[in-house]
Amino acid sequence: MRIEELLCLGNQSVHKDTSKLLLGTILNLNPLELNLHLNDVVESHVVTKFKEALKCLENGEPLQYALKHTNFYGIEFYVDPRVLIPRFETEELVYNTNNYIKKYFNDNIKVLDLCCGSGAIGLTLKSLNNNLDITLSDISASALEVAKINKEKLGLDVKIIESDLFTKLKDKYNVIVCNPPYIDYNDKEIEEIVLNNEPHLALFAKNDGLEFYERILSICEEYLETEYLIAFEIGYQQKYKVLELMNKYLKEVEVITKKDMAGLDRMVYIFKNIKVIE
Ligand SMILES: C[S@@+](CC[C@H](N)C(=O)[O-])C[C@H]1O[C@@H](n2cnc3c(N)ncnc32)[C@H](O)[C@@H]1O
Repeated sequence: MRIEELLCLGNQSVHKDTSKLLLGTILNLNPLELNLHLNDVVESHVVTKFKEALKCLENGEPLQYALKHTNFYGIEFYVDPRVLIPRFETEELVYNTNNYIKKYFNDNIKVLDLCCGSGAIGLTLKSLNNNLDITLSDISASALEVAKINKEKLGLDVKIIESDLFTKLKDKYNVIVCNPPYIDYNDKEIEEIVLNNEPHLALFAKNDGLEFYERILSICEEYLETEYLIAFEIGYQQKYKVLELMNKYLKEVEVITKKDMAGLDRMVYIFKNIKVIE
């Protein structure tokens, strides 16, 4: 089929711009290049991929699942419905964590990406600093299959461990970075497209969404070195509750909270035995 014919086909089920974006992404061409190649005949595997992606969109799936990839921190990650689609806010967690690692630690420290999903956080940190000893961990065997695809695609040397939080972990880490499930089961703001497509195991948590912060904070010191950093992504209304939990379980720590680019409280960084200078 020719590019023009494929675009016409796409226009019948999705908006013409979406159709162009989809085909352009599959062919690695921008919209202008597509227009210049309207008469080019594409290979059959492109036609199949385009039709499959259109079907996903018709079924109300997110574009990233339709394309089977997303861009996170400038890196292309494979994603499918086995994992949460990494969010832009989480790039800020990676950015700050990487800066804190550079500022307060040596290169060859142990970093745990707890609740890793696609592996976006841990693999990005590894790509930014190859000396880091990174472990990705998640309870979901199917999410870890995706993390493994990304590890291999990016050629990065990280450990992958299936574990219900710390239960199967034996090491002590200098840094734990974690974007756990934190949406309350009664949340009314969650978008339909998220609710209907992304794994609920990755989204929801008990106790007003605070379950994982409490489970992690109550036991994490057994898995941390004396000098440590815990970097959490949080729900935008959870800052004070997470700080309460921190004070309940951890002593003599310093904390920095940060807002995301939208101005919402989104990150909590907890330091122990580190002289923090902002
Ligand atoms: C919000 S997603 C974050 C995924 C990824 N870190 C990211 O930022 O895109 C939360 C992840 O926690 C995992 N998870 C849920 N319960 C868990 C548990 N008890 N132990 C470990 N991981 C768990 C889910 O499978 C999911 O991959």
